Amino acid sequence: MDPRLTRREMLAGCGAVGIGLAMGTAQPALGLRNDPVAVSKELKVGVVGIGRRGSTLLRGLLQQDGVRVAAVCDLMPQRTAQAQGWVEEAGQGEPAAYTRGETDYVRMCEHEDLDLVVVATDWKSHTPICVAAMKAGKHAATEVPAALTVAECWQLVNTAEQTGRQCVMLENYCYFRHAMLTMNLVHRGAFGQLLHLEGRTQENWITENWHIFEEDGTLGWCGEAMARRDANQYPTHAVGPMAMWADINRGDRFEYLVSMSSKAVGMAQGAKQRFGDGHALAKREYAQGDANTTLLRTANGVTMCLYFGGTAPQPWSPWFRVQGSTGTVAGDLYDASGERWMDKKIDTSGHGRRWGNLADRLETDDHPLWAELGETARLKRVRNWSGTYDYLMLYQLTQALRRGRAAPMNVYDAATWSAVTALSERSVANRSRPIDFPDFTRGKWKTTPRESMDAVVR
Ligand SMILES: NC(=O)c1ccc[n+]([C@@H]2O[C@H](COP(=O)([O-])OP(=O)(O)OC[C@H]3O[C@@H](n4cnc5c(N)ncnc54)[C@H](O)[C@@H]3O)[C@@H](O)[C@H]2O)c1
Repeated sequence: MDPRLTRREMLAGCGAVGIGLAMGTAQPALGLRNDPVAVSKELKVGVVGIGRRGSTLLRGLLQQDGVRVAAVCDLMPQRTAQAQGWVEEAGQGEPAAYTRGETDYVRMCEHEDLDLVVVATDWKSHTPICVAAMKAGKHAATEVPAALTVAECWQLVNTAEQTGRQCVMLENYCYFRHAMLTMNLVHRGAFGQLLHLEGRTQENWITENWHIFEEDGTLGWCGEAMARRDANQYPTHAVGPMAMWADINRGDRFEYLVSMSSKAVGMAQGAKQRFGDGHALAKREYAQGDANTTLLRTANGVTMCLYFGGTAPQPWSPWFRVQGSTGTVAGDLYDASGERWMDKKIDTSGHGRRWGNLADRLETDDHPLWAELGETARLKRVRNWSGTYDYLMLYQLTQALRRGRAAPMNVYDAATWSAVTALSERSVANRSRPIDFPDFTRGKWKTTPRESMDAVVR
């Protein structure tokens, strides 16, 4: 495989700008205005994919003011029926159900009067569903990752620009309290100039059985992906918060990456434990190395190190580190205390001799979103562990769209963060050669302000 991006991939969007301008269509703004705007409308939402994650998101949407779930879509009629029940229980009336197979979402997008389509299907259909939604005049919000290839990333950017619709990725890790606290501290200069960031996607998908092996001894959709590709296949939980702290697409951009994977042991080992030594899944080969490390360098000279591991035993740990010219912070992003999570430590003394407690900074530097809405989010959350930050993420998205504004995260973020998979795959396949990062903003990163990430929508 050629490690260099083709000219077509690097410039894939140029034609779209021309078309967009020629047709006079609105380009989605990168920034979010801070001035209060009267709320004018109810936001009508369709949800595609009501599995583990979609169930949580759908019930989270029902908690938001001015949001009505008007349609639901899944391959399995029992899932849409359950979703209809939740919507009716919330007093919204029965939403329309679409269950006629793999592309029935197109019918939903074309027939229903919706403002937003939320996508929580498995990885391979995220881009096609977002594109269908935007072409039918709806905004799209997709679960992670938004796209699997560089071509899909450009397709999202080009469609958003051509249609004037927004397309965002629901990267909820950006809304962890300590991710937002850290962003505040970075933006207030607590660490001086940014030098280096580290983040992990560390989970055990085998024992959690996160769509790795099916009951019938076949591979689940995530297991299929682990069998086929060797890359950082789940980058966005780590790169999303880091990009937010480093103002990626808002003053800086990724220039290139290099990536390396360990050998692949975990999938076959897991299949042996689950199905026995003689089973076909225990004897086959898997592409995905159990530990992938990817290094990125930005135009402003910041480096980032991403770890991805989901197939060998390791507790879930959204660990991160920020190193600046005058200080540092490290620990687990998750904001519960207890033995499962690593302490969060900070040092901004300037001499770097001992750690302080990051939590102590909440009093002075909590992000306004958490300071103002954290308690409401805790009361309204759907699930204990992820509900609070999911609530805040859905609040920012739905309330921005109700006011006709740009959502805090945009299609350029979705494309940039998702592209790490395809680019790291190329580097891994070519002895870790550097791979150039496409500029999905086509230069707008130089002039886009960061205000969208710092503001509470009101
Ligand atoms: N942000 C997070 O914290 C988080 C957590 C878990 C999962 N996720 C993401 O959520 C997504 C879904 O994961 P999951 O665990 O819920 O998967 P899942 O398999 O449990 O659910 C997917 C659902 O989509 C349906 N579906 C698939 N293709 C469809 C199509 N073409 N049309 C309509 N319905 C279709 C399936 O029938 C299923 O009900 C993934 O992208 C995953 O990475 C994110």
